[in-house]
Amino acid sequence: MKKLALSLALSLAVVFAASAALAADAQAIFARCAGCHGADGTKTLMGNPVLKGLKADVIAKALSGYKAKTFGGPKKAIMEAQAAGLSDADIKALAAYISKL
Ligand code: HEC
Repeated sequence: MKKLALSLALSLAVVFAASAALAADAQAIFARCAGCHGADGTKTLMGNPVLKGLKADVIAKALSGYKAKTFGGPKKAIMEAQAAGLSDADIKALAAYISKL
């Protein structure tokens, strides 16, 4: 029983560490988005839409679409360049991070 509790505690610690790493990564990546979108997602420097308040699935769909060049408005070339280097995991982490701004 003690062993079970210990391994449970250990796996919880691993889960928490993993989600903290994910959040840190998204925050680090978002630093380079913030120039246009603002640290809180409300800046519209390049006439870009406000990100604050968007749902995670909407953000993930937009970023995947920019990466695949199948999504976007008149200024999509800007975001295609931004999204090109993002992995699927980066997109997922960013979507979760931005949706909580
Ligand atoms: C050089 C300025 C600039 C930077 C840097 C930038 N963006 Fe954008 N972003 C824009 C513009 C402009 C648009 C609108 C593009 C269009 O016409 O489709 C946009 C659109 C978006 C959208 C779509 C929003 C919607 O409602 O459709 C998302 C999501 C987004 N950006 C996320 C990001 C993320 C995440 C990063 C960093 C990896 C980033 N952006 C970096 C300028 C920028």
